[in-house]
Amino acid sequence: MRAAQHNSKTLDRVLSKAGIGSRTDARSWIGAGRVAVNGKIIQSPDLWVDVTRDRVTLDGRPLAAPQKRYLLLYKPKAYLTTYKDPEGRKTVYDLLPETAEWIFPVGRLDQDTTGLLIMTNDTDFANYIMSPESKVPKTYLVKASTLLTDDQLDRLRNGIELADGPTRPAAVKRIRDSARHSFFEITITEGRNRQVRRMVEALGAKVLKLVRTQIGPIEIAGLEIGKHRALTTEEVRMLTGSNASTRKS
Ligand code: URA
Repeated sequence: MRAAQHNSKTLDRVLSKAGIGSRTDARSWIGAGRVAVNGKIIQSPDLWVDVTRDRVTLDGRPLAAPQKRYLLLYKPKAYLTTYKDPEGRKTVYDLLPETAEWIFPVGRLDQDTTGLLIMTNDTDFANYIMSPESKVPKTYLVKASTLLTDDQLDRLRNGIELADGPTRPAAVKRIRDSARHSFFEITITEGRNRQVRRMVEALGAKVLKLVRTQIGPIEIAGLEIGKHRALTTEEVRMLTGSNASTRKS
């Protein structure tokens, strides 16, 4: 039990979202002393419950586990990967319908990064995808602020020293050069804060555009910017067994 946070709901709402009755029903069960949280009878419907941790029972029986949900969202620029922003900026939740189950982003994309973001209510799945040990590859398209030499791209490939330690070897493919900018694709198997931007900064350049195009075997193709779709059971299975290289080069 805890103060209001995004994975928290009031007790009456937790019961109604479990699909067993209305919020009014829930309030009457709570008032009648039929509802317990972590073994303790609670008679306040406004108690905040952490849906990922607290155990709620009705007449001693646990509520059914919420259905697992996995969404793939094409995050546009300027949307924050947070629930609510104190400054009132747009967040990824503005792009999603209200769902019965609380879903949260699997890792973060910077405000100016676009591309694939997975959202789920499955904590084990999210931890697996985010953990550096799982080595799930994430691929980005980068527009650099300058032209980059082959040696500079090699430095990204071989691992580059950042303030929080050297990066793992990365797959890097030059896409093209314009008169003033290099465009390249990079696949990393970590997911440190602002990692790609910091890697490019370590070369003395800046990232002007960053798009995440692939997570494990899941590609951005077919999804429109700002839109989302459910991941299929097969895609979820492939993601959790996908630390093998899924890169094409
Ligand atoms: N690396 C970054 O620098 N930013 C992102 O949003 C994702 C990866």
